[in-house]
Formats: sequence, C-alpha cells, structure tokens
Amino acid sequence: MQPARLVVLVSGSGTNLQALIDACADPAYGARVVAVGADRDGIEGLARAERAGIPTFSRSVTDFETREGWDESLATVVERFEPDVVVSAGFMKLLSARFLDRFLTLNTHPALCPAFPGMHGPRDALAYGVKVTGATLFVVDAGVDTGPIVAQVPVEVHEGDDVESLHERIKTAERAMLVDAVGRIAREGITVEGRRVRIGAAAR
Ligand code: GRF
Repeated sequence: MQPARLVVLVSGSGTNLQALIDACADPAYGARVVAVGADRDGIEGLARAERAGIPTFSRSVTDFETREGWDESLATVVERFEPDVVVSAGFMKLLSARFLDRFLTLNTHPALCPAFPGMHGPRDALAYGVKVTGATLFVVDAGVDTGPIVAQVPVEVHEGDDVESLHERIKTAERAMLVDAVGRIAREGITVEGRRVRIGAAAR
C-alpha cells in the first residue's frame, strides 16, 4: 500500500509538523508529508520542512487583491501535491468552503472543543478557571473550531500556570494525539457522517 499523502499547512514554529515528519520516517506509520505550505515566509515551520527535504510553498493574503484569489491560489498549489489529507497544524487562516470541499482537512486546536474556540484557546481556558483543558483534532468545516471531532486529549491546568506554560503542556499532548490519529487515518481510513467521525473498519 502506498503511504497516505499529507500536505501540512503552518504559520509558526511547526512543532506539530515536526512530530508528523518524525513519525513519517517509519514506513510502518503509513503516511508521508509531501509538501508544507504557509501563509507567510521566514517561519520555522518552513525551515523544518526544508531541512527534511520536503517541498514548500507560501501564499500570503496580502499578495492577493481578494481573499478568494488567495484561497484559489492556495487550493491550486495544494492540489498539485495530490493530498489524501490536508493537515492544518497551527495554520492561522480560515479556509473557504471551496477549499474544504476539495480536500479532507484536519485542524488541531489547543482546547477541548466546543470550549474556547478561536485564536486564544489556552488564554481563554486559563481566564475561565477550568481545571482541565486539552487539545482537539477535528475535520475543518465552515465555522471556527466547530468541525466534527476526530480525537481529543485532556490536559490538567496547574496552579501557577501562565498562558505559555499551559500552552506548552497542551502542545506536548497535542502532538502525540495528532501523530496517533493521523497515522490511524492513514492506515485505516476515515468516515465522516454528520458530526460522527470513525477511524478504521473496527470503529463503531
Ligand atoms: C498549536 O497549539 C496549535 O493548535 C495552535 O498553534 C499551535 C501551533 O504550534 N493553533 P506549532 O506551530 O505546531 O509549534
């Protein structure tokens, strides 16, 4: 069986991307990162891909007259790599319905959806005073962090946490969850029916 083809989209440090790249080094994992895309240049996420010899591309919204033009250009370059799955791993842009119709797109969010959607999951969880937060992998839909849930992992909030320490603890759990779920999807497939997501034939 051919490994599943992953296109990973990033906007920042790319530690989730790195976890996927490392996992893909084992042929038994069942996937490979065929390209890495970004919405900006000069980020560590792109450098990680370059060091691993993975093709990269970037499309900045500001280089396009319209948001639709940006989105179409992004979709065109992603299409070229024939992904089975697009993984948005810290990619800080919303994708259009047209993009999402074309590609099965997964996103990882540093909170337990449906709690604390948006750009500041760890900050908002801390401000709310929850004792447990976590990370969620979901199939991207038209909303903000609202898509059908693929996997979740809980993370304890500690006394004395600040946003950074909490987010770092979440990211450690998030990377493990992402690698596990993407590998299972690559090897066993995924079915999305409404809000229900099943990985593999054995799942109920
Ligand atoms: C992750 O926590 C992701 O969920 C959030 O931003 C972080 C990206 O981290 N949207 P990295 O770029 O993978 O290190």
